[in-house]
Amino acid sequence: MELVDLHNHALYACDDGPKSEKDMQSLIDAIYKDSIRHLCLTPHYHPGYFGENSERADRSFEKLSRYAAEKYPDLKLYRGNELRYDRGCVEWIKSGRCHAINDTNYVLVDFSHSAEGDEIVKGTNSILSAGYIPVLAHVERYRKVAKDMDFVRELRENGVVIQVDAQSILGVFGFGSKRCCKRMLALGLVDLVATDAHGSVIRPPSISDSYKYIEKHFGHRYAEAVCIHNPYAILQNRQPGKE
Ligand SMILES: [Fe+2]
Repeated sequence: MELVDLHNHALYACDDGPKSEKDMQSLIDAIYKDSIRHLCLTPHYHPGYFGENSERADRSFEKLSRYAAEKYPDLKLYRGNELRYDRGCVEWIKSGRCHAINDTNYVLVDFSHSAEGDEIVKGTNSILSAGYIPVLAHVERYRKVAKDMDFVRELRENGVVIQVDAQSILGVFGFGSKRCCKRMLALGLVDLVATDAHGSVIRPPSISDSYKYIEKHFGHRYAEAVCIHNPYAILQNRQPGKE
């Protein structure tokens, strides 16, 4: 099984992920052990929160590439960022300060957990109208979403890709986000699952356990779609859900 992860904080010294090269290597060991073979590195990007971290991300990615090439030659690495939504975020991509997912048209974006529905709709619409496709990070963690499946459906119908965190499915972030994931999965609203891993111990990758959970409760095809086929399609700049 070759799983695909499009959202994690494995690069070191960029954000709230690993602080040292050694910690990054431990996280990569855990990621490989978790059956991930396609890994898009997505440090947080917002100059107001983590500073201008693109050069730090470049250096960290180079070191990671050397480590992975030697130890895990079948692990494929890609560049990306998790953008905190801002009115200027499309310009950040166009100017090369941060990356869309594998430099495709798909952009991993998050909002404050307390963001109102209007803010999420306006923000994702502005990304769509600039010609990019928002992949909305950990949808289950927005206060608005937990209560309103119609809101998720409308976002999705509007072209937003819906991502949930593997650990939310397993209940690590509490009953509310787990229940929200279950409801979205039952309604077929989830496009992809990602680790959002931050370390090998705290917030570790858990996508293979999530895969098993989805397979058991929602079927083999759905588990494959959200953990393999859909995220892989995005890496190739193809629409998820289309063969
Ligand atoms: Fe994240």
